Amino acid sequence: MSVGWGIAGCGWVARDHALPALLATPDARVVALHDRDPDAPARMDGDAARCAGLAEFLATPGLDAVYVAVPNDAHREVVEAAAAAGKAVLCEKPLAADTADAEALVAAADRAGVLLGTAFDQRWHPAHVRLRELLPELGTVTAVRVVYCCWLPADWTPDGRAHDNWRVDRARAGGGAAIDLAPHGLDLAGVLLGEDVVELTATLQTRVHGYAVDDGALLHGRTGGGVLVDLHVAYNTPDALPRRRLEVVGTRGLAVTVDTMGQTAGGTLTLHRPDPVDVPFAGTAPFVAQFDAFTAAVAGTAPWPYPAARDLALHRLLVETLHTATSSAGARALRTPVRRARASAAPLPERTP
Ligand SMILES: NC(=O)c1ccc[n+]([C@@H]2O[C@H](COP(=O)([O-])OP(=O)(O)OC[C@H]3O[C@@H](n4cnc5c(N)ncnc54)[C@H](O)[C@@H]3O)[C@@H](O)[C@H]2O)c1
Repeated sequence: MSVGWGIAGCGWVARDHALPALLATPDARVVALHDRDPDAPARMDGDAARCAGLAEFLATPGLDAVYVAVPNDAHREVVEAAAAAGKAVLCEKPLAADTADAEALVAAADRAGVLLGTAFDQRWHPAHVRLRELLPELGTVTAVRVVYCCWLPADWTPDGRAHDNWRVDRARAGGGAAIDLAPHGLDLAGVLLGEDVVELTATLQTRVHGYAVDDGALLHGRTGGGVLVDLHVAYNTPDALPRRRLEVVGTRGLAVTVDTMGQTAGGTLTLHRPDPVDVPFAGTAPFVAQFDAFTAAVAGTAPWPYPAARDLALHRLLVETLHTATSSAGARALRTPVRRARASAAPLPERTP
């Protein structure tokens, strides 16, 4: 069965990553595009219907599944409408800007009996799939360490055009670097280990950019089985620096990936036991693998392995942790002048959160 996809939110991730991946997914057809900005669908490739209104979009003939890539605070309204229309939904991370919206959109999918997944593309990166297979060679896994950072000033734009940078607006994003970037590492740790983080603390930073949300954060957690999970996420690391690294530490070995956390299929995987050995990996780009898997689930040919209830539990844990951390960071920010480093920053060739 060929699955008809619609894209709601035709901005950066939809245009540069999701649409090309969907067009490369054998059993997927893109039948409709929707954005509240009428110029945004016009910038997308293909001949899908361009729909200014959400109701018109959801009524497109042949529409089976909706990929939701609007800003975080708008996920709920789109997911609720899509679910009520009986469409399967793949919603971008984080599930929402807060817990109430995330709970509501998961409940809406449950009520409607439609499949809901979170678009954690990094689950599908071929290096991470290979790393999962290597875990037995590491002995008892003791820790997962993630560095996932980038440079995002207040006037950040993905393509040089003026951009609505909702990422630094607490109401629309739910916070700053931590709510945007930490979900990937939290999800990935659980996917790799087969057990999720159940305890989490966070220290937020407002040091470089001077906006009202965190531009850096350290998060420390523990899985149900006792594995330590450590995340450094940031909007204040120049993109030219090494800034994307994943380590899984065990009693007999250490696996390290570099530049695999992101939307593309590149990077390296090295196994140290103790001598380093480069481990080859092959497979499709993470977005293609993700859409392939969700398309198969909608077609009923394979199950979707990541229940929305599980993603919601992780989201709830993260948001609750950040709320506690945010108040102390905010108080510090009021007392301490923010040091601005914009002048010393490197050119910004690329951003890949
Ligand atoms: N998985 C990833 O690697 C990844 C990468 C980037 C972004 N994201 C997520 O994707 C989502 C979108 O991010 P982006 O960087 O593409 O943002 P963006 O600002 O580039 O694009 C968002 C688009 O949504 C449109 N929009 C805003 N509100 C809308 C509404 N209520 N109804 C319809 N359209 C609306 C805007 O006009 C814009 O075109 C966010 O949730 C973000 O966290 C995920």
